[in-house]
Amino acid sequence: MQSVLVTGTSSGFGLHAATELGRRGWRVFATMRNLGRRGALDEAAAAAGVTERLEVTQLDVTDPASVEAGARDVLARAGGRLGAVVHNAGVAVGGAFEDVADAEQRRVMETNFWGVLALTRTLLPTFRAQRSGRILVVSSNSAYAGEPANSVYVASKWAIEGWAESLAFEVGPFGIDVVLVEPGSYKTEIWGASPRILPDGSPYATMMRHLEKVIDEKVLASARDPREVAAVIADALSARRPRFRYPVGPDAWVGHVVRGKLPTRVQRFLVSRLLGLHRVKP
Ligand SMILES: NC(=O)c1ccc[n+]([C@@H]2O[C@H](COP(=O)([O-])OP(=O)(O)OC[C@H]3O[C@@H](n4cnc5c(N)ncnc54)[C@H](OP(=O)(O)O)[C@@H]3O)[C@@H](O)[C@H]2O)c1
Repeated sequence: MQSVLVTGTSSGFGLHAATELGRRGWRVFATMRNLGRRGALDEAAAAAGVTERLEVTQLDVTDPASVEAGARDVLARAGGRLGAVVHNAGVAVGGAFEDVADAEQRRVMETNFWGVLALTRTLLPTFRAQRSGRILVVSSNSAYAGEPANSVYVASKWAIEGWAESLAFEVGPFGIDVVLVEPGSYKTEIWGASPRILPDGSPYATMMRHLEKVIDEKVLASARDPREVAAVIADALSARRPRFRYPVGPDAWVGHVVRGKLPTRVQRFLVSRLLGLHRVKP
């Protein structure tokens, strides 16, 4: 039985990926930063009949000691071999760049970017020694184009994609695959959990309030079932020759197809129209 380590399994894609991988016969090391939040995963695993395939371990991707200890614990229990890692843990913050404090911006980069690098560095000696392994990163369709009120999240996903594309050259010769899963908008806790920053007197207030409405009334209304993404993660881990990129959902596919094909001016015009930004003046 192949083993897989998944980060951020207390909710959303991580929770569904852990149970789906268990259902497909993987031995799953489901990690989360706060074990007090394991209830939903335990319930989902019991409902799917995969409790005995899931082992829950503490791992905070932003804490080097926790990354080290979590990875060591998983590798010890897995007999020193690991089939794959799913870098899923992620956070976001909404707001105009100028309004979002440095600490908030850094929290996003520490989790979505540096956390992935830290855990990968810890696992690479094992993957290299076994001459196999799959490093799957949950990226986003936010890696395709700029978005208002979301700049540091977009930057974190662009950064992780550039890193992943580059890493693939170095680790490919050791039999290690690097894979990006790029979901569009899905109904998970990230939308409610992400702070929306709008200080009193912000010069961006009109645009931010408008965007909040668009997100709540349009984007979230059409957000899809996160189990779709879990299924794609499981497919990508079991594919004999995985693709590098897996867009998931219609919005991600449209972005993927037009990516890099439109002049930035045209792309900005279309996104502004789509979000109704042309009607908003500061
Ligand atoms: N939902 C979407 O529409 C969407 C679209 C594209 C990409 N994504 C990406 O999908 C991934 C999963 O997000 P989600 O949508 O499933 O949201 P979610 O339900 O909020 O799940 C995020 C998970 O990450 C965990 N996490 C946050 N900080 C962590 C840390 N420092 N160490 C370990 N775990 C941490 C959270 O744990 P806690 O419970 O402790 O907070 C939670 O388990 C993220 O990388 C996100 O950027 C989401």
